Amino acid sequence: MTRLRFLMFGFLVIICSCLLVAGSLSLPEKHVALFIFGDSLFDAGNNNYINTTTDYQANFLPYGQNFFKYPTGRFSNGRIIPDFIAEYAKLPLIPTFLPSINQEFTSGVNFASGGAGALTETHQGLAISLKTQVSNFKIVEAQLKQKLGDAAAKTLVSNAVYLLDGGANDYIVALTTNSSVLRSIYSKKQYVDMVIGNLTTIVKEIYKKGGRKFGILNLGPMGCVPAMKELVPSFSGSCLEDGVELPKLHNKALSKALVQLESQLKGIVYANHDSYNSILNRINNPSKYGFKEATACCGTGPFRGLSSCGGKRGIKEYEICDDPDEYVFFDSLHLSEKANKQIAKLIWSGTPDVTRPYNLKTLFELTYS
Ligand SMILES: *[C@@H]1O[C@H](CO)[C@@H](O)[C@H](O)[C@H]1NC(C)=O
Ligand SMILES: *[C@@H]1O[C@H](CO)[C@@H](O)[C@H](O)[C@H]1NC(C)=O
Ligand SMILES: *[C@@H]1O[C@H](CO)[C@@H](O)[C@H](O)[C@H]1NC(C)=O
Repeated sequence: MTRLRFLMFGFLVIICSCLLVAGSLSLPEKHVALFIFGDSLFDAGNNNYINTTTDYQANFLPYGQNFFKYPTGRFSNGRIIPDFIAEYAKLPLIPTFLPSINQEFTSGVNFASGGAGALTETHQGLAISLKTQVSNFKIVEAQLKQKLGDAAAKTLVSNAVYLLDGGANDYIVALTTNSSVLRSIYSKKQYVDMVIGNLTTIVKEIYKKGGRKFGILNLGPMGCVPAMKELVPSFSGSCLEDGVELPKLHNKALSKALVQLESQLKGIVYANHDSYNSILNRINNPSKYGFKEATACCGTGPFRGLSSCGGKRGIKEYEICDDPDEYVFFDSLHLSEKANKQIAKLIWSGTPDVTRPYNLKTLFELTYS
């Protein structure tokens, strides 16, 4: 049954990928690819190719202005976390899954999509959900088998690192546009369990295809980002309570789920980064990390917390700072390139108090044969 399904699937892939020539490529011995799943923190331009709204896109200036010099679809003034991870791993910039035309996918693929959630309902029709991202990974995995042969594809998949971030949009929806979810349908704990359950499923699906090494981010302090502060006009400087409580519940549950996965799935290894504290430290004490402001560089309002950067999301007027390196955030929700680089370094080589039990560098160095 399984074999039959694989054959049918393989047949479809042959039709769709006539440009790929089987066996035309060999890989260096210690080749470690990077596959990326997540939301706008990780999206490097997939949403440029889907039918969505500018709320979930960053393919206009000033996004991209400082590093790429043009808008790539990344929600920052320059590079994002996966770009730095690729650099530290000596990989090229990882290509986005879309547009899937004649792409070279052997260094890995970025499947992430701005607005995506772990729950299918989250921004449905406006973003590529994590579940669909995993289906897209399965398409790529089948293509790799066609291209490299089963054995080499299997080695590539089992040695690759799978970087995953998710959950933020599920909670943003529950706190803003669909607040009845937490008022009358689910308790906070039930909702968190549902999000974690779906994230766990993502890991299990990748594991079933042969993935073993996972880099997983905790949720950041959502209640303390400029966009959340903007929701409360008389904001006094601390964080919105629900936007702090939910990530804390989520992170505790995630840590438990990862320990469970480790005992259930033979050979799985992971790096879990505490982005909650690494980002909160920078918000609370910007100067210690080389920033002048914990607010956004680009946007409208006192914290530049209205999501108007670029003037294409309804509000046309926006301010932009002179030097994004002085700011923790580039827009109301997303980190500046400088902050992205600092967080990426902690994911890559952080000690176990911030990235545990292993850091990503250690996972890249591990070899499965
Ligand atoms: C994109 O979405 C809009 C709004 O929902 C719809 O009117 C339009 O037909 C869609 N376009 C495509 C190509 O799917
Ligand atoms: C609100 O959340 C409920 C429960 O998850 C879901 O059934 C419903 O479709 C959501 N509504 C919107 C507009 O997203
Ligand atoms: C995943 O989320 C759906 C709602 O989108 C929920 O019905 C389901 O129970 C969740 N799965 C797990 C394993 O928690």
